[in-house]
Amino acid sequence: MKIAVVGTGYVGLVSGTCFAETGNNVVCVDIDQAKVEKLRSGQITIYEPGLEKLFERNLKEGRLHFTTSLAEGIKDAQIIFLALPTPPGEDGSADLKYILGVAADLGKLLQPDDFKVIVDKSTVPVGTADKVRAAILKTFNALNPKPCSLNDFEVCFEIVSNPEFLREGAAVEDFLKPDRVVIGTRSEKARKVMQQLYEPFVRNGNPIIFMDERSAELTKYAANSFLATKISFMNEIAVLCEKLGADVDMVRRGIGTDFRIGKHFLYPGIGYGGSCFPKDVQALSKSSIDASYDFKILNAVMEVNRLQKQFFIGKIEQHHSSDLNGKHFAVWGLAFKPNTDDIREAPALEVIDHLLAKGASVSAFDPEAMGHVKSIYGNRIQFASSQYEALSGADALIICTEWNEFRTPDFNRIASQLKAKVIFDGRNLYDVAVMEELGFHYESVGRRIV
Ligand SMILES: NC(=O)c1ccc[n+]([C@@H]2O[C@H](COP(=O)([O-])OP(=O)(O)OC[C@H]3O[C@@H](n4cnc5c(N)ncnc54)[C@H](O)[C@@H]3O)[C@@H](O)[C@H]2O)c1
Repeated sequence: MKIAVVGTGYVGLVSGTCFAETGNNVVCVDIDQAKVEKLRSGQITIYEPGLEKLFERNLKEGRLHFTTSLAEGIKDAQIIFLALPTPPGEDGSADLKYILGVAADLGKLLQPDDFKVIVDKSTVPVGTADKVRAAILKTFNALNPKPCSLNDFEVCFEIVSNPEFLREGAAVEDFLKPDRVVIGTRSEKARKVMQQLYEPFVRNGNPIIFMDERSAELTKYAANSFLATKISFMNEIAVLCEKLGADVDMVRRGIGTDFRIGKHFLYPGIGYGGSCFPKDVQALSKSSIDASYDFKILNAVMEVNRLQKQFFIGKIEQHHSSDLNGKHFAVWGLAFKPNTDDIREAPALEVIDHLLAKGASVSAFDPEAMGHVKSIYGNRIQFASSQYEALSGADALIICTEWNEFRTPDFNRIASQLKAKVIFDGRNLYDVAVMEELGFHYESVGRRIV
């Protein structure tokens, strides 16, 4: 099939590459000229395990193309995916300006009798498919002598909602073998096209779930909000564990073995971050308000997430008697989670901002995300070339992301390079008893302090 993917970021590039991998001819469109030039010349623009190999292969085989021209990108496409940003607007709702802007442009480019399926892959509030349809029709009708109405538009296009559930850090695997594919459409014609496209990805028997557009749009927000709720719930349990002298690792195992609860997403930490959970929980809360419904749990989830970062920062403050001025800290992990270079809403940045505001200095290390962090902080913090180099002369090590290489470090080397044998572990990477034996002052989340 011939496919256009508009927006070549984390979702667009992974989707485009994976669609090409199953034999489709894919053109990725982006307004960022530098990004398109880089991709055209064979350089990958994001870090995502397994993506580079697929990207290079499909580029070489001539199934993957990049352009800045929407007209060129969609010319022969049967399906047009929108993988555009939906950042939070000032009031917390998803800002649809990128989506509706491209929809208006598409209306000028679509031709009568050249049926295309337009698929919204971005995370968008309920009702967006209707808005996209209306935006396309407006510009389409302005240019066409025989205008389409909302009832007969199917002659030239149909709108589908196909939310994306990939996880950064495991995006290729998730895309190639999804737990499920959600397709929101009431059009039989569009349904057939989408079924054909996704069949190679669900050979393992996982379902393609068809529904109406509104239900599909809400499904994505419900999924992310539920996961964020699970994290915030465990973060509160962890705080309580510390107050009551319980161990959150034990509690986690004790409840995770109940199949109704499940063992995933029960790890406490320093709060969720990333480009999705914070904005999606906020956007669903705003949608609820707009629908005159007070979604109380979501408000608590957001508040707990805000407090959890402060709870962790509070540990660092308290250990240093609230005097961080002149102190120096090593920070391991900057990405919002391991196996990605994405730093959007990364908790590490809030920790660093706090340390700098209190007059401390920071030496940071992350295996993939340092480039992005440099563009924000410049020389306000030091960037180490290895995890051990970051430790030199530091008053403490602070762990913000659970990269694999931080899991079994050389503790003797850590001890010899730090000025004080102090570790604040926001990801519960180490065994408390081992750290006690090694003589570290070790604070994690929801476990005893040694
Ligand atoms: N990142 C994730 O893990 C993830 C997972 C599931 C869903 N989503 C959703 O997918 C959507 C995209 O997220 P992302 O992380 O890929 O965003 P991103 O910021 O990484 O990528 C968006 C891309 O769109 C491009 N763009 C902006 N305006 C454009 C225009 N007019 N024409 C062409 N290109 C344009 C940008 O240059 C950028 O490359 C969002 O709605 C997000 O919530 C993201």
